[in-house]
Amino acid sequence: MDKLVIRGGQPLSGAIRVSGAKNAALPAMAACLLTAEPVQLSNIPDVRDIQTTRALLETMGVETEGSGGRHQIQLRAQAITHAQADYELVKTMRASTLVLGPLLARTGQARVSLPGGCAIGARPIDLHLRGLERLGAELRQEHGYVVAEARRLQGNSYSFDRVTVTGTEDVLMAAVLAKGETVLSNCAREPEVVDLAALLTRMGARIEGAGTSTIQVQGVDQLGGASHRIIADRIEAGTFIMAALITGGALEVTHCQPEHLGGLIERLEEAGARFRIEASSIGVAAGGRLGAVDIATAEYPGFATDLQAQYMALMTQAVGTAAITETIFENRFMHALELNRMGASIRIEGRRAVVRGRSALAGAAVQASDLRASASLVLAALAAEGETIIDRIYHLDRGYEKLEEKLRGAGAAVRRIARLIPRTAGASQPRTAGA
Ligand code: UD1
Repeated sequence: MDKLVIRGGQPLSGAIRVSGAKNAALPAMAACLLTAEPVQLSNIPDVRDIQTTRALLETMGVETEGSGGRHQIQLRAQAITHAQADYELVKTMRASTLVLGPLLARTGQARVSLPGGCAIGARPIDLHLRGLERLGAELRQEHGYVVAEARRLQGNSYSFDRVTVTGTEDVLMAAVLAKGETVLSNCAREPEVVDLAALLTRMGARIEGAGTSTIQVQGVDQLGGASHRIIADRIEAGTFIMAALITGGALEVTHCQPEHLGGLIERLEEAGARFRIEASSIGVAAGGRLGAVDIATAEYPGFATDLQAQYMALMTQAVGTAAITETIFENRFMHALELNRMGASIRIEGRRAVVRGRSALAGAAVQASDLRASASLVLAALAAEGETIIDRIYHLDRGYEKLEEKLRGAGAAVRRIARLIPRTAGASQPRTAGA
C-alpha cells in the first residue's frame, strides 16, 4: 500500500488550487440515472470515489466518457440494465447509496446493498428509507440488500428526524420524478445539496428552497440532459488553510468559494489567523502564534465535521486548551490517538476531545483510519520535527486530488512511496469510512 513520507518544518507559501467538491460530484453523478439524455459534469475532482461511482454507474448500464483526470465526465443512462448497487462497491463507499432514490424514481425498482458499519460510526440509512416510503415505495430487506419498489412515486410531506446530507439528496432525487408536490423539512442546508438542486433544475426539475431547511418539489414526468459545473471543495480548501497555519506559513488558496467556509474562518480569526478574502480565493497567514479556540461540529453553516480532525491537529500547535466537541458522528476521534503518538496532548471525554497546546510534535510512523483523519495526520506531519510516514493513504486518495503534489508546490517536503507488493487478484480493499 502507498505511504506518504513527510519531513516537517517547512512553512507553506505560494498558492494552491482547490479542486471540485467530491461530495457534490457524487450526487450529481447519481442524478444522471434520472434521465435518458446525457449529463455533462465539469470540475470533477480526480479522486478514487469518483472512479468508484463511475464503475458503479457502468454496472447499471450507464455510458461514461471523460474522467476525473480531465475534470469532466459525460454520463448517459439511456437504458438502465441493472438497477442494483452491489455490496462490493457499496462497502468501499457509503455514498453509493445515493443511487437508491434516482433508480427507484426512474425504473420503479432498486436493489442497493446496505452499507453496514464504517470507521466513523454506525451511519445507518434509515432516514433515506423512511423518506422513500413516504413517497410510496415498498421496501424490504433481503440478503443484506434493500429492495425498493414503486409503480410511480407520489409526492408527499416528509420531515427528516435529524439532518442528513446524503439522505436529503437521495429523497430529493426521488421526489423530482414523483407525481405531485413533495415538501421535505429539516433538510440539510449544505452547499452540496444546493449544487445538486441546481443541476436537477437544469435537467427540468421544479425545486424551491434548496439551501434552507424546507425544500418544495413539484414532480415532473421526465427530466432531460444538462451541463453543470461542480462547486469547489470547501473541505479541501479548509484543509489547505489549516495546513498553512500549522506550518506558520502564508498561502493563497485559489479557485475556492469563500462563502462556504464561514464557520471555519470565524473560528480561525478568533484564534489569531489573518485572512484576505476575494471572490474566489482566500489569502491566509498565521500572523504569530495561534491561540486555542473551542469548537463544536454542526450541520452547515456550522463547523463542518469533515474539518474537525484537521482542526484538532492545528490546535496541538495553538497556545492554551481547546475543547473540540463532535456532534455529528459518534466515533470520529481516531486520529487523536495517532496525534498523541506524535507528541500531542489530547484527552477524549466521550464526544469531547480536549487538546492541550502547544506540543512539540515529532515525526513517527502513523496510520490513517479514515479520509479526514488522514488529512489531520498530514497536517501534524507538516508541523512535526523530522520524518513522518503515513500508512494506509488509500483513505486520502478517496477524497483529495494529488494532495502531495499540491503541498509540494507550496514548499512542503512530501513524497509518496508506491506500493511494493502488487495487490493479488480478488484481494479486497479494506472497508473505509464514507466521509
Ligand atoms: C455526508 C458527507 C460526509 C459528511 C457528512 C456530515 C457525502 C458523500 N458525505 O455524509 O463527508 O461527514 O455528510 O456532514 O456527502 N444518520 C442516520 N440515519 C440516516 C442518515 C444519517 O442516523 O438515514 C445519521 C448519521 O449516522 C450521522 C448523521 O445522521 O450521525 C449525519 O449523517 P449524514 O449527514 O447522513 O452523513 P452522510 O450524508 O453519510
